[in-house]
Amino acid sequence: MGEDQFMGNLYQRFPVTIEKGVGAHIWDIEGKEYIDCMGGYGVALVGHQNQRVNKAIKEQLDKIITVHSSFYNKTREEFLKTLIGLAPKRLTQVHLNNSGAEAIEAAIKFARKFTGKKGMIAMKGSYHGKSFGALSLTFNPKYRKPFEPLVEKVSFASFGDIESLRSLIDKDTAFVILEPIQGESGIIVAPEGFLQQVRKLCDEKGILLIFDEIQAGLGRTGRLWACDHWNTAPDILCLAKGIAGGMPMGATLVRPDILASMSKGEHSSTFGGNPLSCAAGIASLKALTDDGLIENSEKMGKIFREGLEKLKEKHTMIREIRGKGLMIGIEMKFEIKDILTGLIKEGVLMLYSGRNILRILPPLVISEEDITKVLHALDIILTKEEQKRNVQG
Ligand SMILES: Cc1ncc(COP(=O)(O)O)c(C=O)c1O
Repeated sequence: MGEDQFMGNLYQRFPVTIEKGVGAHIWDIEGKEYIDCMGGYGVALVGHQNQRVNKAIKEQLDKIITVHSSFYNKTREEFLKTLIGLAPKRLTQVHLNNSGAEAIEAAIKFARKFTGKKGMIAMKGSYHGKSFGALSLTFNPKYRKPFEPLVEKVSFASFGDIESLRSLIDKDTAFVILEPIQGESGIIVAPEGFLQQVRKLCDEKGILLIFDEIQAGLGRTGRLWACDHWNTAPDILCLAKGIAGGMPMGATLVRPDILASMSKGEHSSTFGGNPLSCAAGIASLKALTDDGLIENSEKMGKIFREGLEKLKEKHTMIREIRGKGLMIGIEMKFEIKDILTGLIKEGVLMLYSGRNILRILPPLVISEEDITKVLHALDIILTKEEQKRNVQG
């Protein structure tokens, strides 16, 4: 493929050249249609060519593209107001940046500055990005090892085990960071009660709690915030992916007393809060709240998981179905590479999470009809895989 000549070998790539998308559908340059169950790694939350987003971008384009945060801008103001209007209570201030990793970097700095402490506790299985700070909080040795030494003073607790977390806390612990539903490690949902226990422990010890809802937030799980499933709120919330309808944006939502500890110039971002992304962000948040997308995520997620459970009864290759809303993992007993390529042939794009877990992160506009087609395609491919394995003996 032409791009490979210039982009090196950094991405696991599939031989499809995508040209166009509408809603939960994508077309390649040959005109072949696909149902999009990967959503650009969860970015296409409100659907491809969402009309609210397209209109907002076009209108902003005719005003101005870039306004640095050293000046004011009404589009940015409206976006911030809208976002804070939806945010968990106590999170009334925002630092805008450009990606998930940047949202995490800002959170690390704010938490360290506010507490005056250095210790950081993340979870085993965590994924927070690949810049140095975010990578230091990411568990998988495959990503970490080649780049050590990373940022010091990070330890990893067992996800879901409050005693493991408690044992790692010391006088220098600044914060605990976790994904309420771990994405990259295979859609691992926090066990019942864990988030509340962590919140309580952090309060008792005077430690900040950071939630990374870069993948699980903004309606993905059938609630606006993943932490809403457990009635828990963090001190800092990191967002990115679909927040601006596909335009690059990260956001670090913070308690105002935490942000007040930062001085001018101690953190900044040239592109952060640019009006084009903010215009798309207003439209994207409106689509989520006013067009029933969060409700659709819950409803379609349930239908999807019920259909998958039925497939599990038929195909013993499936070990477990996990997730909430439209954040779904299918753990298989075998490697899934051939399943993914088989699905592409059947007109379905899906993601992986590790070698043996299929991940489904479709646009929240996906319909029941599309889900039925995806389940049918999966049925065909799994039947073929089983036949292949039987023949191979
Ligand atoms: C939970 C989580 N945190 C952080 C990131 C990093 O985001 P980005 O790739 O935009 O830096 C991701 C990306 O997949 C993620 O899923």
